[in-house]
Amino acid sequence: MERLQKVIAASGVTSRRKAEVLISEGRVSVNGVVIREMGYKVKKGDQIEVDGELIQKENKVYYVMNKPKKCLCTLDDEHDRKTVVSLIQCDERIFPVGRLDYDTSGVLILTNDGEFANMIIHPRYHLPKTYDVLIDGILETSQIKEMEKGIMLDDGMTLPAKVRVRKKDYVHKKTKFDLTIVEGRNHQVKRMVEYFGYQVTSLHRKSLGFLKVDDMSQGSYRLLKPQEVKDLRRLANEGK
Ligand code: URA
Repeated sequence: MERLQKVIAASGVTSRRKAEVLISEGRVSVNGVVIREMGYKVKKGDQIEVDGELIQKENKVYYVMNKPKKCLCTLDDEHDRKTVVSLIQCDERIFPVGRLDYDTSGVLILTNDGEFANMIIHPRYHLPKTYDVLIDGILETSQIKEMEKGIMLDDGMTLPAKVRVRKKDYVHKKTKFDLTIVEGRNHQVKRMVEYFGYQVTSLHRKSLGFLKVDDMSQGSYRLLKPQEVKDLRRLANEGK
């Protein structure tokens, strides 16, 4: 038995809050009877209609994309810039799991499964994300150590990170390194780099857990295999 507003929201028709409004407005019926009671419990097989239209449970879908640069993770944009959702052809109401910046490329999951999305982005689950980072300076050993221990940003201490230097270019004053973090705060990598007075000049998320997009061109996507979804859930649960 599940609450009516939850079932309506899970069908993808609208959000849970808006489903409550629909119920209070008398626009929802169960087995032909208008229900205005909030929290009314429905069971499998009950016929739920919104404005006379039968709702169906939305199929859960999971995609992984190699997000291209110059593309937004918001659902739409007032300036009509490209969004990640617009690149995927599907009927379900999918959304990106977490955000990559406009100028960041790499692994991005898109789904219509809110509970799964929460497991992937919630810091409690400690899912590792590795970024390929290029900065406009030479990252010092002492700075690497600080990053690995945790640094104080304006929203608190970062959890320990892993750094693997790929190249230090002393002539052009650039460092290329892999940074693995288990959180996903807003602009976290850029802010960690800015903490030391540098700027990120290129950012690519090369992995999220075991998911990689090395063999996918930017902008391409594929459905996750059911086993991959299961393994991501397991990985997130282990990190709790
Ligand atoms: N950290 C950032 O600063 N930007 C991203 O897009 C992802 C992580």
